[in-house]
Amino acid sequence: MSAASRGATPRRAQRRPPLAPGSIVVRLRALLRDPLSYVRRLGESREKVLWLRLPGGGFYVLQDLDVIDEVLVKRHRSFVKDSYTHRLREFLGNGLLTAEGPPWRRQRRLIQPAFHRKRIQGYADEMSGLAEAMVEGWGDSEVRDVHGDLMALTLELVAKSLFGADVTKSTAAVGVAIDLVMQRHAGIMLPLWLPTPLNRRVRSSIDEVTTLIDGIIRERRRGTVDAESERSDLLSLLLAARDEDGGRMDDRQLRDECITLFLAGHETTALTLSYALFLLAQRPDLQEALASEVDAVAGDRPAGFADVPALAGFERVIKESMRLYPPAWSIGRRAIEEVELGGYRLPKGGEVAIFIWALHRDPDHFPDPEAFRPERWTPELERTLPRHAYMPFGGGPRICIGSAFANIEAVLVLAAIVRRYRFRLAQPPRLRLKASITLRPRDGVRLRLKAR
Ligand code: HEM
Repeated sequence: MSAASRGATPRRAQRRPPLAPGSIVVRLRALLRDPLSYVRRLGESREKVLWLRLPGGGFYVLQDLDVIDEVLVKRHRSFVKDSYTHRLREFLGNGLLTAEGPPWRRQRRLIQPAFHRKRIQGYADEMSGLAEAMVEGWGDSEVRDVHGDLMALTLELVAKSLFGADVTKSTAAVGVAIDLVMQRHAGIMLPLWLPTPLNRRVRSSIDEVTTLIDGIIRERRRGTVDAESERSDLLSLLLAARDEDGGRMDDRQLRDECITLFLAGHETTALTLSYALFLLAQRPDLQEALASEVDAVAGDRPAGFADVPALAGFERVIKESMRLYPPAWSIGRRAIEEVELGGYRLPKGGEVAIFIWALHRDPDHFPDPEAFRPERWTPELERTLPRHAYMPFGGGPRICIGSAFANIEAVLVLAAIVRRYRFRLAQPPRLRLKASITLRPRDGVRLRLKAR
């Protein structure tokens, strides 16, 4: 896309980007009915930026990799998260995903070390252990909706990584709250103070989670320093984190970060795994190759952290699954000042959208883009792919903090499944997708299992 429509003249910088085709009604209907097909059609126009004018303003669709780089990297200070993301503040407060400016920068610096690859080693045993327990509960010849299992597994894994100890009660409450918040965001969002049935449930669920997490934080603050230093969970790192001036997070901030990590870290990883299984279910040959790989690397024991670098076939499968079905299918920003982008004028307050779904299906970068071909991920492709052509974790300073965590988790869980089962689809091979904040399979992912 970056090669398209170059050569804007300075005169054009006075102009707004071209309007997306069709009337407002046509655009709105297309976006509501089938947003995924619609954003791909927009991409075919090869315009660098398109103005998708809608009732209430609309947004600017960024379709050029250099323009995307301007927004996410070079001029990221001229942008904040879009207003849709900011609405998550009613649940996430001022956590890393929704914070802005200096408070965001401070938090990112404090939290970043907790997500370093070598830290994740400490959570990896839990990842393999819980994955083993999950497949232990599956039966030969059974038909299962594995998406449900994976949602439960990834939620438990975030909970264990955050709090270490058994937090079953909070985990269940957080699961319910996230689901309700997602439901709220998928529809027309009425103000939370309006006492609709859904709003009431959302409010009481958020209150419950807040009380539970505040309780855990209070208890941990009361614990002795010695006990705290023996722990290796994320919360202990967050409790101990100090900025350059020796300042640390207050309880409110800690709570916001815990809820944020729950929300950001759980469904996205479950989706990655569900889509990988959906795709692999149609490729028995690849399942066999992966099973041989994990056997050769780990033998009779479950794969662990140290095995991940040798499980290159798994990494390629995960990569290709996230290309075809990026769990975060779009990201957005809002301009806090007037900006010139790709030769056009973007007004202050203008909202921009980057459709990762469309970028990942650009045939210039991924020939035969609809095909599931993990083998396309050669070192050559990795070397030559332009920046942002593949961006399941976003880009720039606000890139996902949990990408290494997610990748390692996905490899270990997939390895645990492939070692024990062969599987076929027990549903039609066409996924019905729901594009909300995340990209969800409407009917789950149903597999017929066969024990190895
Ligand atoms: C495959 C799984 C995952 C995907 C596809 C994913 C995707 C993303 C994307 C696209 C963003 C950037 C959003 C933007 O620029 O507007 C992001 C941010 C973030 N992700 Fe992830 N994520 C995943 C897993 C995780 C995990 C496991 C965690 C934590 C345990 C996590 C925590 C976060 C946080 C805290 C942010 C905000 C970072 C900031 O603004 O500084 N994510 N993620």
